[in-house]
Amino acid sequence: MGAAKRVSQTAVGDMFTTAAAHPNIALIKYWGKADAILNVPAVSSVSITLDALATETHVRFDGMLPADSLCLNGNTLAPTSNQARRITACLDALRALAGTGLRARVETHNDFPTAAGLASSASGFAALVVAASAALKLDLSPTTASKIARAASASAARSLFGGFAELPAGAAGEDVAAVGLASAEHWPLEVAVAICAEGPKAVGSTQGMIDSAATSPFYPAWVETAAADAAAARTAISERDFPTLASLSESSCLKMHAVMQTTRPALLYWNAATMAALQRIRHMQQDGIEVFFTMDAGPQVKAVCAPGAGGEVAAALASVPGVSRVLTSGLGGPARVIVSPWDGRCD
Ligand code: DP6
Repeated sequence: MGAAKRVSQTAVGDMFTTAAAHPNIALIKYWGKADAILNVPAVSSVSITLDALATETHVRFDGMLPADSLCLNGNTLAPTSNQARRITACLDALRALAGTGLRARVETHNDFPTAAGLASSASGFAALVVAASAALKLDLSPTTASKIARAASASAARSLFGGFAELPAGAAGEDVAAVGLASAEHWPLEVAVAICAEGPKAVGSTQGMIDSAATSPFYPAWVETAAADAAAARTAISERDFPTLASLSESSCLKMHAVMQTTRPALLYWNAATMAALQRIRHMQQDGIEVFFTMDAGPQVKAVCAPGAGGEVAAALASVPGVSRVLTSGLGGPARVIVSPWDGRCD
């Protein structure tokens, strides 16, 4: 990573920035760590970044603060909470690069359900890295920013990029970063997200994937087959080959859920609405609509559609029993600094 630069401990004047980042959805899934401490993925993953959902994060470094002060969706995080520890560790990595010990006030807001399998940690840490590095006047390369985001939450490494991104697998101790594969304009896929349950998931991804590696008999096969899936997905994206990407993505998703379901204790993220939405997507495929499904560590069904097919798919999913609402999105751009003034949700 870049050489450390020193920031004055008293320079509090303009050390604040707001950034926005979008969640991403993995088509080729990440589930498993080669290094749980450094958070290095054991499998390569390929994702699309969404434009309709966003995290906005405001970071202010302040010489008067005795400790980081963190507010998520209007709620102050206890400093001992898991989320607060992860945010502070991410800030520590940036403070080390800037050569400062200044503490920060972080206010972050998601315009979509948090921790419900909609990749809020991905957009959250991507926005945090962009906002905090800009506030510290660190001119990070996308690679360095992506490595710092990955250490916090691997899927966040992908949300630094717009369109299509890949996070390669690494070995223990290897500091991997995501790369952009193609822009949103290259292939403007559309996404309909069927919300099958609101509220946080039962078991978070970080613990879940550690448990899977330790207990699922399918885990070795999952890791063994992931590189070929990622390579084939790269080609399908570059050739805009929808049927191939559909088949690879559904297979990667179902392999990951097979690993989850055979983890002890079992990670059962689906509910009845999830299953009904999958069946509806199967019927649409039989009717010739270009759509495929993917799901993450939660019950929501993400329907990825060929350009122009999103509206019809969203309408069909909205009528599935148990689906409370459907979000629609195109593909979004990279995480970035935004100029709009933060309207502070915490006192
Ligand atoms: C199922 O990136 O949240 O969404 O690195 O432990 O923070 P940590 O995990 P996280 O895992 C995401 C898992 C997934 C699949 C994916 O996005 O690739």
